[in-house]
Amino acid sequence: MKELDFIYKRKSVRKFTDEKVHREELMEIIKAATHAPSGKNQQNWHFVILNNKEKIQEIAKLVEDKTHQLVKTADDEIAKDLMKFLRYHTLFKDAPTLILIFAGPYKLSAYNALISAGKVEEADRLLETSTAIQNVAAAMENLQLAAAALGYGTCWMTGPNFAAKEIEGFLNFSKDGYHLAAMTPLGRPLDQEIISPQRKDINEVITIID
Ligand SMILES: Cc1cc2nc3c(=O)[nH]c(=O)nc-3n(C[C@H](O)[C@H](O)[C@H](O)COP(=O)(O)O)c2cc1C
Repeated sequence: MKELDFIYKRKSVRKFTDEKVHREELMEIIKAATHAPSGKNQQNWHFVILNNKEKIQEIAKLVEDKTHQLVKTADDEIAKDLMKFLRYHTLFKDAPTLILIFAGPYKLSAYNALISAGKVEEADRLLETSTAIQNVAAAMENLQLAAAALGYGTCWMTGPNFAAKEIEGFLNFSKDGYHLAAMTPLGRPLDQEIISPQRKDINEVITIID
């Protein structure tokens, strides 16, 4: 369906040209991200935008160093896995821009109501649906769709989050209650032909109740 072309245009881009992201387009992309829906319109997101290649590479180095540090104490299988995915956790290193999305607290009054009613199990289940993260995820998806529409590539990344402490320290960014949730490189795709991995058969993932 032609109207939905903008959805299929977005693919995970992992290699970028050196072309810088135009400031005006960057701001439009962030603006589109902030127009995502959020629970009670709390907009508990914050975007840290790095346009400095050396700093981006230093972040990749932090992820690499943390991987090597963890490999030393991990059992063989986990160490192998960490090394196997290192490439996928540092792929942003050659991008002209890196956007790091921070998630802030989401005030969930129903949680306290369930606790007061002694419904601890239900309260825990409610927390697992993390509205705070759903809000940020909606912003990230908007950001990616907007970037793709303007001919830019992105790759949603949570892989490097295990080095969040080091990354947050390096950025010297702090906002009360906010923590690193995800990041994405942003730049012109190096390859024009990117094939996304296959999706599950649609019948496997839907239940229609008429
Ligand atoms: C929450 C989330 C985390 C992801 N983390 C990474 C990552 O750390 N590294 C990476 O290379 N891709 C990452 N991806 C991208 C997925 O691998 C990709 O979306 C999936 O394979 C489907 O491909 P497509 O985006 O091209 O459609 C992530 C995607 C999501 C939604």
